[in-house]
Amino acid sequence: MKEINYAHNDTFNGERITCTSKYNKPRLREELEEIRRSASRRGIPVSGPETLNFLRTFLLAAKPANILEIGTAVGLSASLMAETCPYAHITTIEKNEAFYAEALENFRKLGIDDRIRAVCGDAAEALGTLSGKYSLIFLDGAKAQYVKYLPALKALLDDGGALVADDVLLFGYVTGEEPTPPKRRMLVEHIKEYLAAVTSDSDFATTVLNVGNGVSVSVKISVADTENKIQG
Ligand SMILES: C[S@@+](CC[C@H](N)C(=O)[O-])C[C@H]1O[C@@H](n2cnc3c(N)ncnc32)[C@H](O)[C@@H]1O
Repeated sequence: MKEINYAHNDTFNGERITCTSKYNKPRLREELEEIRRSASRRGIPVSGPETLNFLRTFLLAAKPANILEIGTAVGLSASLMAETCPYAHITTIEKNEAFYAEALENFRKLGIDDRIRAVCGDAAEALGTLSGKYSLIFLDGAKAQYVKYLPALKALLDDGGALVADDVLLFGYVTGEEPTPPKRRMLVEHIKEYLAAVTSDSDFATTVLNVGNGVSVSVKISVADTENKIQG
């Protein structure tokens, strides 16, 4: 890739160090570690170790059969998900053509391209073309758009499925743990809107985890579990 055209460079500083980072390390196999290293070297935004470790642990428990990812970048998290769930089919959406092309190449090299449908395009548009249901959605695209995507993602999620959103604490700015730089204020407001929407929706049970840059896990309450809904 000659030139990186990434519109969100100013929102990506890698993953912050949390008090649990030293325990939450993924054991990536060498090929995935190389994709991570190469992306990091070139400033391409990919999930950090804590988030990858969380994803792997969660996937091993949840065993999703159909996964949707918003924000492929060069395919690191999609590859981790494909390896962790060898029975799963993954759809992943990326608008940056150079990242998309590199992700396709990585999937091919890893021999997982037959289980990953990579879509190149804007997520808002691509979501409208999807049908079927997903048992896990990994939301890792433009953070400012999370709240806008929520209705479509909810409709695409199976009952009992999980919507996992990355970067919801954004370096500690969202909780006020770190002062928000002026240029990130709007973004922080959008993330707060997402968290407010998903935590107040009685169709979801949500927990926000202080892992990496913050991960929220929202499980769509199934009809069979409706008595577990807490109203208000
Ligand atoms: C944090 S990166 C994804 C990292 C990837 N999930 C991983 O961990 O390997 C976010 C990606 O979302 C993409 N993106 C940003 N806005 C988008 C949009 N509107 N539609 C689709 N992709 C978008 C960016 O180009 C970027 O590659």
